[in-house]
This record gives sequence, C-alpha cells and structure tokens, in this order.
Amino acid sequence: MKSVGAPIDRLDAQKKVTGTATYAMDTEVTKVVHAVIVTSTIAKGSISALDATAAKREPGVLAVMSHLDAPKVMAGKGKAGGPSERILQLLQDPLILYADQPIAVVVADTLERAQHAASLLVVKYTAEAAVATIEQALGTATTPKALAHGKPDWSRGSVEVGLVQAKFKLEQTYTTPNENHNPMEPHGTIAVWHGDELTLYDSTQGIFGCRNRLSEVFGIAKEKVRVIDQFVGGGFGCKGTPWSHIALSAMAAKVVNRPVKLAITRPQMFSLVGHRPHTIQKIALGCDAEGKLTAVRHDVISETSRFDEFVEPSALQSRMLYECANISTTHKVVGIDAPTPTFMRAPGESSGTFAIESAIDELAFLAKIDPLEFRIRNYASSDPQGKPFSSKSLRQCYEAAAAKFGWAKRTPTPRSMRDGHELVGYGMATATYPANQQSASAKAIARPDGTFLVQAGTQDLGTGTYTVMTQIAADALEVPIERVRFELGDSLMPETPVSGGSMTVGSVGPAVRQACIALRGMMAIARAEDKAKDIVAEIKTELAKDHDLYSMHSFGAPFVEVRVDEDLGTIRVARVVAAYACGKILNPKTANNQFVGGITWGIGMALQEETVRDRRTGRNVTRDLADYHVPVHADIPTIDVISIDEEDLHVNAIGTKGIGEIGITGITGAIANAVFHATGKRVRDLPIRLDKLLG
Ligand code: MOS
Repeated sequence: MKSVGAPIDRLDAQKKVTGTATYAMDTEVTKVVHAVIVTSTIAKGSISALDATAAKREPGVLAVMSHLDAPKVMAGKGKAGGPSERILQLLQDPLILYADQPIAVVVADTLERAQHAASLLVVKYTAEAAVATIEQALGTATTPKALAHGKPDWSRGSVEVGLVQAKFKLEQTYTTPNENHNPMEPHGTIAVWHGDELTLYDSTQGIFGCRNRLSEVFGIAKEKVRVIDQFVGGGFGCKGTPWSHIALSAMAAKVVNRPVKLAITRPQMFSLVGHRPHTIQKIALGCDAEGKLTAVRHDVISETSRFDEFVEPSALQSRMLYECANISTTHKVVGIDAPTPTFMRAPGESSGTFAIESAIDELAFLAKIDPLEFRIRNYASSDPQGKPFSSKSLRQCYEAAAAKFGWAKRTPTPRSMRDGHELVGYGMATATYPANQQSASAKAIARPDGTFLVQAGTQDLGTGTYTVMTQIAADALEVPIERVRFELGDSLMPETPVSGGSMTVGSVGPAVRQACIALRGMMAIARAEDKAKDIVAEIKTELAKDHDLYSMHSFGAPFVEVRVDEDLGTIRVARVVAAYACGKILNPKTANNQFVGGITWGIGMALQEETVRDRRTGRNVTRDLADYHVPVHADIPTIDVISIDEEDLHVNAIGTKGIGEIGITGITGAIANAVFHATGKRVRDLPIRLDKLLG
C-alpha cells in the first residue's frame, strides 16, 4: 500500500495533455478586459513627453495609464523587504532605469485593440549615456549588503600561504553571460477588485509572497488579497518574486473598474522578470605533489541594476566542496543601467560550479592526476565551514557514474580519443545544491464518505507537487492514493513558502505528513456522530534544530562524452551519465524528470544560452526564442541518471533534500572539461561555441 517511493504518473498529467488544466491566463472571468505594457526604447534618462491622444481615440480603448496619471502606490521595498524582494517600476515617475522598462499600460476591450493602441503612443525622452555591461564599470564593484543565503565573504586559513606551499598552481578567470529563464508559460496576471478586496490569478512560484507584496503596494491588509494559481507552466526562479506587471494589472483594473488580464509577451520576458546575471569569476588554486589542495580562492563579480541589488552567489559551493585548510571566497556586485537580475535555476551553484569545476580539472591536468582521482583525494568528509554533513554520498555517486560511463577507458592526453573526423572528449565534475527548507502549514480533512482532502497553499511548477504530496498524504493516512485528493494554489489555504530553492517537498511534505498523522489521531478518538461530519486537522511545522547543527547538501557527479567534428565544427554532447544523492527519492519518475531537465538545461547553458545586450543602446538583442538559443531534441542525447538513495535522519521528517536544481550544477563544468579533453582547447567563457575553439 505504500505509495511513497513508487514511480507514480503525474496525477495532473491527463489534464495537462488534454488542455483542461486551468493556467492563470485560462481562467474565465466575466467582463475581463485586456492590458498591454508599453516599454521604454532607451536605457537611461527620463520621459520628456508622452502623448496618448491618438491611442485613446481608438475604438475599444478604455485607458492609457502612465506616470502622468497612474494611481499612487508603493513601488519600493516594504518593511519586510529583504534581499529577495525587488524594487518595482510602477509608473510613479518619468525616470528610465533600463531598456524595455514599463512606461505605460494600455487597456482595451480586446487584446488586439490594446496592442494596436499601444503602438500609437508618442513618447519623447531625454536620454543619457547608459552603462550596459559590468566590464565598463569594474572600478565601481562593491561588496553587497546581503546574499539571500550566507555572507558575501568567507575565508579560513591563508590562501597566500597555501599558494606558496603549492607545487602546482593555477590562476584563471571564468565568465558566464546573462541568461533568461523563458518557461513555456510566460508570466501573466488577471486582477479582479471587489471593493477594496483584490483577487489575482497569477502565474507564480509563491502565492503568499505575491499576496504580501500586493498588500504593501496598495496599502491594504494581507487578508484583502487572494492569489490563485493552480497550474504553472514552469518557473525556474523568474516567478519566485513578484514583478511589476502583477501590480500594474491590479492598478489598471482599479482605473477601468473592470477585471484586467495582462500577459507578458515573449520579448518582455527578457526585461521585466529578471535574468541570471553575467559573472566574472577569478579562481586561484594550489595543490601539493600528491594533488592535495593547499589553497582555494574564488572571487565573484556579478551584474546588478543601479537601483537594486541581486547577488549571484557563485562562490558559495567553493566554501565546502573540497577539503582544504586555506579557502577564501568573496562576492562583489557592479550596478549598471540594466534590469535587476534574479534567481535562475540553481542561482550561484550553476554558474559557480562551471568555474570551480573547470579550475579543478585544469589543476588536475597540471598535476598529471586523473580528474576523478584528484577530486577523491580532496574529498570533504565534513563541511570545511565547521559542521558535519547531515549525509553525503558523493563518493558513491562518483563510483556509480564512473563505472556506468566507462571512465576507465579514458586516455588522459587531450586529442587522444579521435573517432574518424570527430574528436572525442570525456569530462566530469561535481554537482551540488543545498537542502533548503522553511516552515510550512497544511490541512487534512476526513470526509464522511471515507475520502480525504488535503490542502497546502503551495505551487506545482510542473515538478510534480500534486503527485508527491498525494503520495505523502496517502502513506501518512495509511490509505491508497485513490482516496486522497490534494489541493494547492490558493492563498486561502494554509501558508507555505515560495516554491524555489528546491525546497517545496522538504518544506511542505513534512507539514502534509504531520497534518495527516494528526488527523488519524483525531479519527481514532472520534465518536460516531463526529464521523458524520468533516474532521479537520491543521498544523504548522517548525524548522528542525538539526538545521543549525548540520550542513545539508545534495551532491552528484555528471560524466559526459563530447564530440567535436573537425570538419563541420559542431560541438555535441553525445552521452551523459550522472549520479545524484539527494536524500530519499519519493517518486523515481518525477525525480528522474527533474534530473534530466536540469542536465538538459545545463547542456544549453554550456553550449547555447546567452542574452546579448547591445553596449551602445543597453537593449537586449536576443529577445525571442529564435535568437536566444535553447536545446531542442537533436541537441540532447540519452541522459542516464543514477539515483543513490540516502537515509538522512536530520534534514526533515521525509528525509528529502530537494532535486529541482542540482541537475543544472556541475554539468557545464563537465562539458567544458570534456571539450578540453577532446580538443586541447580550454574555453573559460560560456557558452562554448565554435568561434571560441578557433580563437
Ligand atoms: Mo529556483 S531559481 O529557486 O526557482
């Protein structure tokens, strides 16, 4: 009867493939009208004139809202505004802070009429020269106020001493470009006011964050805002914090006194909802004759906007990935005239493991030690920052993936594994992601008919939340899953954290389990007349003390075979074998899908993805999926994932560490290392394209 651990199909699969899943923008709302956001064509300066006369004359147009007449709201960070909250652009002044910033909202009875009227706006600017890249302003790099997790700088021992002691040394700079998330479903909001109460149908990773932020924007109680979001067509971080369009849709709904639907266009996805910021990462490593690390230094500079601060925490993993007496890590940011970046799948670890795992490969090569053997010699049995790991099965990951991949067949010399006109390269790396967690709440209801309804106000980004929560609930209730229905996606339900940081199952799962166990207790003592009615149990979990005592991380080991065609110039990932240890796996089918999705994105990150910003105008040149390249079927080989089940008694009551993000970590380094092995050419700047191999 146990359903946790079984490879159960997604319970929402049929709804999704038959088009009956109600995404936010699919919600039928009577009398809804349509809004479009008009964006700036300059990157810095101010609006000197905005003429909406022609636009307002068009049939069906209900309003043109700009800084001249928009309702006064709070666009800045609120009282609780931490490093995860963004400053919004809500038409409160004529200032232009970045290219393609919202400058007006046009509302009409149909989408086409709104789009047409938007094209008739006449806008004049006073433009100033914009700083479009951090390379133009490196002298202004400063230590950030805060990271979302951890401190900007951390060190132990002395890297200087460690480098003097070293037999082999390496100092290199690795860079990663701006990237944009582009989930299949772009962002969108339907805003409905009933008096001073606001209902939002919004595509979001966090209904409660959205509720709280909108209550601050409009200065109304949290209880007056309700956010509903039953299906999300991908999130990846860009839906983790509320962006301007959500408030703009609610402002427009107020102005026209009708429900307003506002969908972000694909080009707007590149400026309105955050991006992974460009990083410059300087790494220094030293090791002795046996390959033992004597020094690890990782200094990161990343892009932020001039008016807000987001830090890509790319050096965090270098504090604990390998055992070393001398470690130093720093983060700095450079503010430029660009939109504020944000979390993007494994923010920090994805770009950071590219740099550190490339550098480790380079040092192993200098020391003439096999790169896998080099990593094993520097294995960290406990976190160098001082705490024991709650569990760590990285050694088993290395062994299992190396054996299945056939790593032993690798000949160490670059260009030594040719196959016809293809150069063959084998590369590997270490993957890692923290086991994040927050307290959460859930409700379980026993119905007189013997069925159960379980609710938590969480989200399913396509990851499988509906399915896995139902499995957890069924086991805790000791009933088959057919008798359990799990609901999510409404801020009237019990509060849970944002679905980010791979923490949904680890946070909400224990709450669901505990609510169901409490319900069973209540049912055991219920009298017959109680059982004729619903019996309800609602609980809120606290974070276990073990979170202060242990270092909690998932680990993994991706191995890749790359083929570089010397005649055609193609760079292709031909094979991936990766092993991960992420605590307990609750559903091998949905888990495998997360690992494969992360690896697929990692292949794109390694070889294709790059948002190109024009230095002269500050505008993005890549602004659709024709110019912004992501992998398609022909780019992706068979991906073979081995999951190492771990028993972790400290992480939470479910024993899971989270699996949504680790797949994109390590893989870019493994590919860069394989490209070096294939060609003898080290590319330290993502994405790895043919021109960089020729250069
Ligand atoms: Mo993820 S970048 O924490 O949504």
